[in-house]
Amino acid sequence: MLTIRRASEKDIAVLTDLSRKTFEEAFGDQNDPEDMRTYLGDSFSMAQITQELSDPETTFLLAYHQDTLVGYAKIQGGPAPDCIRDDKAIQLSRVYIISHHMGRGFGSQLIQACMDESLQQRYTSIWLGVWEVNVDARRLYERLGFVRAGAKKFILGTDVQQDVVYARSV
Ligand SMILES: CC(C)(COP(=O)(O)OP(=O)(O)OC[C@H]1O[C@@H](n2cnc3c(N)ncnc32)[C@H](O)[C@@H]1OP(=O)(O)O)[C@@H](O)C(=O)NCCC(=O)NCCS
Repeated sequence: MLTIRRASEKDIAVLTDLSRKTFEEAFGDQNDPEDMRTYLGDSFSMAQITQELSDPETTFLLAYHQDTLVGYAKIQGGPAPDCIRDDKAIQLSRVYIISHHMGRGFGSQLIQACMDESLQQRYTSIWLGVWEVNVDARRLYERLGFVRAGAKKFILGTDVQQDVVYARSV
């Protein structure tokens, strides 16, 4: 059973470390080291996380298992790709479980918590972009009722990648 709570400004250091660690674990060996360095520097700096935490349209959720931090998620209002027609759609922009805690149902619970939080914030649907080669995550989203809506580009350093866009109602 997970305990999931909203992150606050007090969590900036923990969240920055966790964001970097989980992104590197997940995608470090599939990407050019220089592209990774650029992306980590831009997207996971303490300044960037601080700014996102203070954005009223962004919510970070932290997931604990028996007092151990095992993962986090970020949901974010704002612009969506053209294939998302719902103007009350929020983005599940990140969901990460520390690698040695994966496969125990924590990610599924965290995604459900994101949907609950989105509903509470009066959104009606949730969308996400997932790297097309990330077949494990895609299978999980499909099992959780997400439906393929289209595609979008994702830039990692100098690398232009193709994301599959999924969405579902909340
Ligand atoms: C995707 C992720 C959040 C799922 O969390 P989780 O706790 O492992 O998920 P659950 O235990 O609830 O569900 C397990 C499912 O996740 C899938 N999964 C995805 N990546 C996995 C991984 N690296 N290890 C184990 N399972 C993984 C499994 O295939 C499994 O699906 P299946 O039962 O159909 O085989 C987590 O694996 C993760 O952080 N992956 C790396 C980062 C990532 O890809 N994030 C999504 C970016 S869009």
